[in-house]
Amino acid sequence: MNGEKSQWEGIYQQDGRAPFEPRPVITQFIQSLSERGLCSVLDLGCGSGRHVIHMIQNGLRVTGLDNAPTALKLSAEWLVEEGLAGGLVLSDMRQPLPFMDGSFDAVLSTQVIHHARLETVIGTAREIDRITRRGGMILISVPSLEAVREDSQEFTEIEPNTFLPLDGPEKGLPHHVFSAAELECLFPGFLVLDLREVGGRVIVLRAEKIGRPR
Ligand SMILES: C[S@@+](CC[C@H](N)C(=O)[O-])C[C@H]1O[C@@H](n2cnc3c(N)ncnc32)[C@H](O)[C@@H]1O
Repeated sequence: MNGEKSQWEGIYQQDGRAPFEPRPVITQFIQSLSERGLCSVLDLGCGSGRHVIHMIQNGLRVTGLDNAPTALKLSAEWLVEEGLAGGLVLSDMRQPLPFMDGSFDAVLSTQVIHHARLETVIGTAREIDRITRRGGMILISVPSLEAVREDSQEFTEIEPNTFLPLDGPEKGLPHHVFSAAELECLFPGFLVLDLREVGGRVIVLRAEKIGRPR
């Protein structure tokens, strides 16, 4: 953490807890975890906690990680309201993740890992691979170009397919835009179980770890 307030910290300070409902793809993810007897999950970029809460309510042991302190505060309050227990970690995915190799049965990350230049995103993907145990699973979603365009009116392309919003709440935060094939290539140690575009706005990858950590 470099002490600088992130764009998302500003968003959570202004908007509070949101969104509330889990993404529909989570249901199938939870089902495939339960079929395989997988239990411990990291929600990388957990935000204000909608998936942390939902997964714990479905019997999973969940740790949420985010670099926005207010996101974690909102998640903690929500856990207390529901009478649930979960781990919450303040950390930056652009740095090595603070977990041992193979620490988790699964890693979930919805609309998070694209928030950087490609080289940094590749480093985060390696870290996700490292902390997922063999036989474990990942569910990763990233926005499409259309979705990134809708969220800010002006942006500049700082490297191929990485856009920097020049206005709006995410001003100055790089967004890398993936094709489905590029998202799959980020995780070579995984067998793809599902890879699809949902509603033209989101690309979702669900995969099982078969290789050794890189
Ligand atoms: C679009 S929100 C998604 C939140 C949550 N995954 C969900 O689907 O509700 C993006 C999240 O990524 C987090 N984030 C962005 N950059 C991050 C970083 N470098 N390290 C950790 N978290 C980050 C933000 O703080 C924010 O909570």
